[in-house]
Amino acid sequence: MSHLETINVVTEHKSVPVQLHTDFSGLSEEISKLPGVTSVFLITERSIHSLYSKYLEKELSSLRKEVRVIYVKGGEKSKHIDRTGEVYNKLIEFGADRKSLVLAFGGGVVGDFAGFIASTYLRGIRFVQIPTTLLACVDSSVGGKVAVNADLGKNMIGSFYQPEFVFAPLIALSTLPDREWRCGQAEIVKHALLSGGEYWEKVKEHSLSDLNANAPILPYLIAESVRFKAAVVSSDEKETGLRKILNLGHTTAHAIESVTKYKKFSHGEAVAVGLITALFISEEKAGLDPKISLETVDCLKRYGLPFTTRLKSKELAKHMLHDKKNVGGSIRFVLLEKPGSPVFDVPVESEEIVRNIRRQKAL
Ligand SMILES: NC(=O)c1ccc[n+]([C@@H]2O[C@H](COP(=O)([O-])OP(=O)(O)OC[C@H]3O[C@@H](n4cnc5c(N)ncnc54)[C@H](O)[C@@H]3O)[C@@H](O)[C@H]2O)c1
Repeated sequence: MSHLETINVVTEHKSVPVQLHTDFSGLSEEISKLPGVTSVFLITERSIHSLYSKYLEKELSSLRKEVRVIYVKGGEKSKHIDRTGEVYNKLIEFGADRKSLVLAFGGGVVGDFAGFIASTYLRGIRFVQIPTTLLACVDSSVGGKVAVNADLGKNMIGSFYQPEFVFAPLIALSTLPDREWRCGQAEIVKHALLSGGEYWEKVKEHSLSDLNANAPILPYLIAESVRFKAAVVSSDEKETGLRKILNLGHTTAHAIESVTKYKKFSHGEAVAVGLITALFISEEKAGLDPKISLETVDCLKRYGLPFTTRLKSKELAKHMLHDKKNVGGSIRFVLLEKPGSPVFDVPVESEEIVRNIRRQKAL
């Protein structure tokens, strides 16, 4: 059995199927449905490819097309504009044309990077996302944001560029280290808080030990998360309004990552801490029941995620002022009135942020 479920992201110009599969079978069939593909380029990290090349090669052999592999270095530092030149050159050298197809096989770093390459090579060629981390399955592969980093800022150069489809082979998660499971789980907690209802109730019930590639709950957790994100992106692809709610927890998360120069906390860990800052501020400014914040702290603990840091609250607030999502010099937050009822673009004063980060430290 391979196909589990398909959820569509419907944008103004395109409907993008996000397909959840148990393994790789069916990938070639899906690629074959794309008209006129001349050549295929698999962009991936060497370490990820070596884990799954046997399965991929077997599956892709039925395409009866040469599949060239282009390796990129892993890690946030490598998702940099300076690393794009060598990949463009390889595509030119291998004769990639306007009908070529890029397969982005990896986590969010590969997905964002390869997606950016596809969006710019020959003014845009088609690409497919094949996510291999939990975060990439539930978040980065869905929604069409592709980007690379500049020296002075993360994801500063990029575009909205939808893949032809997303093919998530859950078997790939079987080699995922614990820290990466936690990282993806932070985004799942975020989606569950934003969507509310049964999803939030279910996410609260589980813990890290329930999460592995064969866990019966996994397809449900991923599908609901994708369904939620797909609905948000379908109503606001370019983040002019509602899509901003997906930044719940991210104002503090970006400050934590930037203060620690992306070395100490994974993105998911930073988001976990940021969720609690947002929920504490929501109690003061959006009438959130304090019970929800405490339930979320408990939930993060069970998933092995942090809910506070030792970083100085004033330094974090200072960094928030430089967040690219700010408007007119004031710090904007996504807050929650209750699970399922977010509000966005809420201006929050530095003192309010400092006060609530201090509350977090006292937990
Ligand atoms: N485009 C978007 O909408 C969006 C949304 C959220 C995050 N992002 C981006 O996603 C990136 C983070 O993605 P990530 O958390 O997937 O990190 P990642 O891509 O760096 O992967 C994390 C680690 O797991 C390893 N890995 C990947 N798949 C594996 C597997 N199946 N088995 C074993 N190891 C594996 C990678 O080599 C890496 O060391 C960031 O750059 C962030 O900006 C983008």
